[in-house]
Amino acid sequence: MMTNGTNEQPVHDIEAMRQRGVPDHVGVIMDGNGRWAKQRDLPRTDGHTRGEEALFDAVEGALEVGLEWMTVYAFSTENWKRPPSEVAFIMWFNRDLLLRRADELDAREVRVRFIGRQKRPIPKSLLKIMDETERRTAHHRRLTLQIAFNYGGRAELVDAARALAEDVKAGRLQPGRVNEKSISSRLYSPDAPDVDLLVRTSGERRLSNFMLWEAAYAELVFDDVLWPDFRRTHLFDAIEEFQKRTRRFGAV
Ligand code: FPP
Repeated sequence: MMTNGTNEQPVHDIEAMRQRGVPDHVGVIMDGNGRWAKQRDLPRTDGHTRGEEALFDAVEGALEVGLEWMTVYAFSTENWKRPPSEVAFIMWFNRDLLLRRADELDAREVRVRFIGRQKRPIPKSLLKIMDETERRTAHHRRLTLQIAFNYGGRAELVDAARALAEDVKAGRLQPGRVNEKSISSRLYSPDAPDVDLLVRTSGERRLSNFMLWEAAYAELVFDDVLWPDFRRTHLFDAIEEFQKRTRRFGAV
């Protein structure tokens, strides 16, 4: 990292970062919206609203640095336990966000994909817009933005195991031939590369059931920043940290 001398803001050398090689797939656990709001005496939902700005700045950063895959954790299978008003807000907010941002994502050549259990209790009207956004952007390849929604890493493995069991039952697969590929090809997004960098904000140091299979070898970077304050510079810091670690391991 360098400073530009005039206002001491950190400046990242994007070109150098690109040349060193960016991660194939960055996973982001966007944590701390509630605490951000609480610190300001605002309702928790205001934290989610402000989180949108952070997410889209991170997307711009991903495009700038040439990331091809980024997966963000927006709603987990466990998040249904939150107060019903907050759950309802997130459902409405996701729908609203997709309606407002679809043109921009399309223009930026971002392919949007959802991973998770895309069914009830997600409201039908939201499922429809999720599906439309996926279809509309399906031809893009610049950046694939995966939104983990009603997602759980264990649920994903359960779903893969069920599909596998069905194939065994139908005689399409011999139990003795089950291998890692039999599982990975039955995950929600089988063509996605493994997550090689996983970033979590808000100082928590947990995986929270996020991409358990895909992030098996990921470098973990934890940042104290609360998600609504996250900006692309934080993403760049994490990528630089990843590049240092990878290079160190390479030298051993
Ligand atoms: C975690 O903060 C954040 C979430 C559960 C929601 C994340 C959503 C966004 C950043 C906005 C984008 C939304 C969509 C639907 C694409 P928290 O509420 O767990 O915060 P806390 O740990 O401080 O309570």
